[in-house]
Amino acid sequence: MSQPLLQVRDLCASIEEGELLHHVNLDINAGETHVLMGPNGAGKSTLGYTLMGNPGYTVTNGTITLDGEDITNLSTDKRAARGMFLSFQNPLEVPGLSLEAFLRNAIRQQTGKPLKIFQFKKELEATMDLLQMDASYADRDLNVGFSGGEKKKAEILQLLMLNPKLAILDETDSGLDVDAVRTVSKGIEEFQKKRNGALLVITHSTKILESLHVDYTHVLVKGKLVHTGDASLVEEINERGFEQFVNAAAGK
Ligand SMILES: Nc1ncnc2c1ncn2[C@@H]1O[C@H](COP(=O)(O)OP(=O)(O)O)[C@@H](O)[C@H]1O
Ligand SMILES: [Mg+2]
Repeated sequence: MSQPLLQVRDLCASIEEGELLHHVNLDINAGETHVLMGPNGAGKSTLGYTLMGNPGYTVTNGTITLDGEDITNLSTDKRAARGMFLSFQNPLEVPGLSLEAFLRNAIRQQTGKPLKIFQFKKELEATMDLLQMDASYADRDLNVGFSGGEKKKAEILQLLMLNPKLAILDETDSGLDVDAVRTVSKGIEEFQKKRNGALLVITHSTKILESLHVDYTHVLVKGKLVHTGDASLVEEINERGFEQFVNAAAGK
């Protein structure tokens, strides 16, 4: 068997106040979609940030390997350059930087090469069209005055323009109306199917997953991965909640 795209081994991560992730193990192969669920405050966003190398979280144990390379101590921009992407639960507003300029910079940084402007423009137009974003948004300051749904669409636009090997989507569907969820879901499906990208989708809802093929579902409770199942686990949790896993984690 070839090695997994992402291999997380015995990962512990801390902030000043204490340890938030305890001995997490996770393998994601190229092209696979994994869903991460868990109660509020379980550490789902923390795992996303830690995988992406956010300096606010210190890895105190274990390793993160991408494509066979140990990236545990690499900076966020180096991880991005190697094909990792994290979409934020609450995207930042950046006055003075247009969405298009931001994307150009991000692609340049990721590839380390000058951008082919004509090709970029064409792709940007087509992708914004797919996401039902008005072309004028390209010239607007990144996320400034964007609605919740528009910010999430802008995140998916980044995903499709950057085309990473592995994308971590942190509650990209939260706070969206049904139409926006469908559009965002379509964007993710494009990434999954046409581009064979691997996904770690942090979500509470089944709606975004309807059109996506899910390979594995993981449950995180109090910083520990306590259970892994298949796609049907998402439905089961939505019906029965997290109680069984919380009790199991507490040894009840
Ligand atoms: N930078 C931080 N400073 C203080 N507490 C934090 C920080 N990041 C996360 N936490 C705490 O760690 C726990 C896990 O948070 P988080 O990863 O955001 O959970 P989730 O995304 O599963 O809801 C929560 O109790 C949260 O308050
Ligand atoms: Mg979170």
